[in-house]
Amino acid sequence: MSTQPNHQHHLLAQWVSQYRAATKEGQCANYIPALAKKDPNQLAVAIVGTEGHEIKAGDTEELFTLQSVSKVITFILACMDRGLPYVLERVDVEPTGDTFNSIIRLESHQPGKPFNPMINAGAITVSSMLAGHSPQEKVTKILQFLEQIIGKQLSINEEVFQSEWQTANRNRALAYYLMDSGFLDCPVEAALEVYLKQCAIEVNVSDLAMIGLVIANDGYHPLLKKQLFPKQVAKLAKALMVTCGMYNASGKFAAFIGLPAKSGVSGAILAAVPGHAGLHSPFPTGCGIGIYGPAIDPIGNSVAGVQLLKQLATEWDMTIF
Ligand code: DON
Repeated sequence: MSTQPNHQHHLLAQWVSQYRAATKEGQCANYIPALAKKDPNQLAVAIVGTEGHEIKAGDTEELFTLQSVSKVITFILACMDRGLPYVLERVDVEPTGDTFNSIIRLESHQPGKPFNPMINAGAITVSSMLAGHSPQEKVTKILQFLEQIIGKQLSINEEVFQSEWQTANRNRALAYYLMDSGFLDCPVEAALEVYLKQCAIEVNVSDLAMIGLVIANDGYHPLLKKQLFPKQVAKLAKALMVTCGMYNASGKFAAFIGLPAKSGVSGAILAAVPGHAGLHSPFPTGCGIGIYGPAIDPIGNSVAGVQLLKQLATEWDMTIF
């Protein structure tokens, strides 16, 4: 395999056009009205390495919302704000095998502690514990943290936020249940506002790739040459991405792709390729990968995005295992 940048770029473009056909096998998330309107045929990928070299292909200019990818960011922030013991006392690190918005284990397992920060129940709990006296303060912290990583200001897609805010019956049920069992650090509506606003933060695939790069590098930003969050927190985030990041498809994803990754119902996928896993790839010191393909499967993962990621992870032998 050649490692010439042009060759890599050509390959990536070829894979995107090949896997674009798979977008037909999924549908845009229809339980969030603003997401249902997106173009299901879109597919994009960006990969950025530790030297800042980027390759990308497909609909790379398209903006989309982070949705559940934001759960990794808020988990990292909560650990920095409150310390690991505080966070882990309120949210576990066990996969569930259930859907991302399931409520069942909050009642069937006592004391009702959410199983992990990557499912909605755990993520709402995490959002409630972020530092800040108001939802706005907490959201500002999230945006500032992302600005440090990406190097530009991101904004919240108001239409997507409003669309979810008005239809968030399931998330409200989860939040009220969590409040009743003592797992929320702020009022229900405030926790929901933070959670749904973080889900509505808008990015493109290059932004996602940059977040993936810093996570892959254990919190160290290789371009800024700065540690942005503790290594221990980054390791935990990666373990959670492997075990819970692709919801109840995380087992198969680990088995057949083998990368720490996090998906969102917008069709976003963030993957982190540590140096040792990138050894045989064009990014031997590691990289971050951002993918967007809004046609998702019933579990909530981008259909074409997962296939595209499988192709490149296999071709470039990127598995962490
Ligand atoms: O809370 C929700 O349902 C959405 N804002 C996020 C869910 C999500 O992205 C699950 N992902 N696959």
